[in-house]
Amino acid sequence: METLLEVKDLHVTFSTYGGTVKAVRGVYFHLNKGETLAIVGESGCGKSVTSQAIMRLIPEPPGKIIKGEVIFKGKDLASYTEKQMRSIRGVDISMIFQDPMTALNPTLTIGTQLMEGLREHQAVSAEEAKIKALEMMHLVGIPNPKERLKQYPHQFSGGMRQRIVIAMALICEPELLIADEPTTALDVTIQAQILELFGHIQATTGVSIILITHDLGVVAKIADRIAVMYAGKIIETGTKYDIFYDAQHPYTKGLLKSVPRLDLKEERLTPIDGTPPDLFSPPRGCPFTPRCPLAMEVCDKVYPVTTERSRSHQVDCWLQDERAQQLLARTANQ
Ligand SMILES: Nc1ncnc2c1ncn2[C@@H]1O[C@H](COP(=O)(O)OP(=O)(O)OP(=O)(O)O)[C@@H](O)[C@H]1O
Ligand code: SF4
Ligand SMILES: [Mg+2]
Repeated sequence: METLLEVKDLHVTFSTYGGTVKAVRGVYFHLNKGETLAIVGESGCGKSVTSQAIMRLIPEPPGKIIKGEVIFKGKDLASYTEKQMRSIRGVDISMIFQDPMTALNPTLTIGTQLMEGLREHQAVSAEEAKIKALEMMHLVGIPNPKERLKQYPHQFSGGMRQRIVIAMALICEPELLIADEPTTALDVTIQAQILELFGHIQATTGVSIILITHDLGVVAKIADRIAVMYAGKIIETGTKYDIFYDAQHPYTKGLLKSVPRLDLKEERLTPIDGTPPDLFSPPRGCPFTPRCPLAMEVCDKVYPVTTERSRSHQVDCWLQDERAQQLLARTANQ
């Protein structure tokens, strides 16, 4: 499989009056061509900052990419100038944000906005742009596209607006689409429709997708691989099957317990007790220690080494260490 994007040792900080927030603390992951990677984790764990860093959209100051590489098609975007990045954004990599209203201009018709996006980056005639805009409206499932092109954002429902935003993101045929909580503002039925739409788009266009969400339930259907993030680090990565059927990290297991399951009649959701650590002075060791039911002495002292359970499945947890397994076995026998 061909790698499209590889993020290596990414560190991002924000300087505030209260001190320096270490928002992203050495993130590694990769994305293959044509796949969907979900980045999952609780609020504040650094999902949005990671995606903004890939797009080089971190507000500087107060933000700063301290360290790291963002290798996209063999080139390190972290070293690109703003001018070079402008030729990448919206063309090679597109991003969809949580609130579809902020991405649309209320004073312009949907058609104008779709066509503007295309004409800004490609030398196409007005007629060609219109054809492409109609094609995109069709792709994202908007009925009567010819009529709808002439309308304004407020004439669309929330779900339809999000479809337009997705059409705008795709009009230049990017190779990578980053969707940051694209369904959070929508009601549950519409959420499901938009997620299905992502699957359809991927099958039709072959675009690679990074889907960011705090809800593991959302990714079950459409993700190929899942990266679980906690306190600025990716603590477990695997295929959807690795994560749903063979999760190893206590945090991932906790997240799974808080996902509603359709196959169980009675829903018993157990949220994870406690709160994530303060990112002004994150712990040296495993940041999950205070909340972890299986924490050992080593945990808050040294950050766990990454264990490769298989080629697809990696975990940062001391429980993967053989010696911890022996210790657990001894305690169980006592
Ligand atoms: N502009 C900023 N100034 C200061 N701190 C920031 C800024 N942007 C993000 N942060 C901090 O960086 C950390 C990571 O934030 P981020 O937005 O990436 O979280 P997230 O995982 O996307 O959460 P959510 O699920 O709520 O969207 C948080 O502690 C946040 O407060
Ligand atoms: S390293 Fe220790 S504290 Fe962290 S998740 Fe594993 S067992 Fe729990
Ligand atoms: Mg976010």
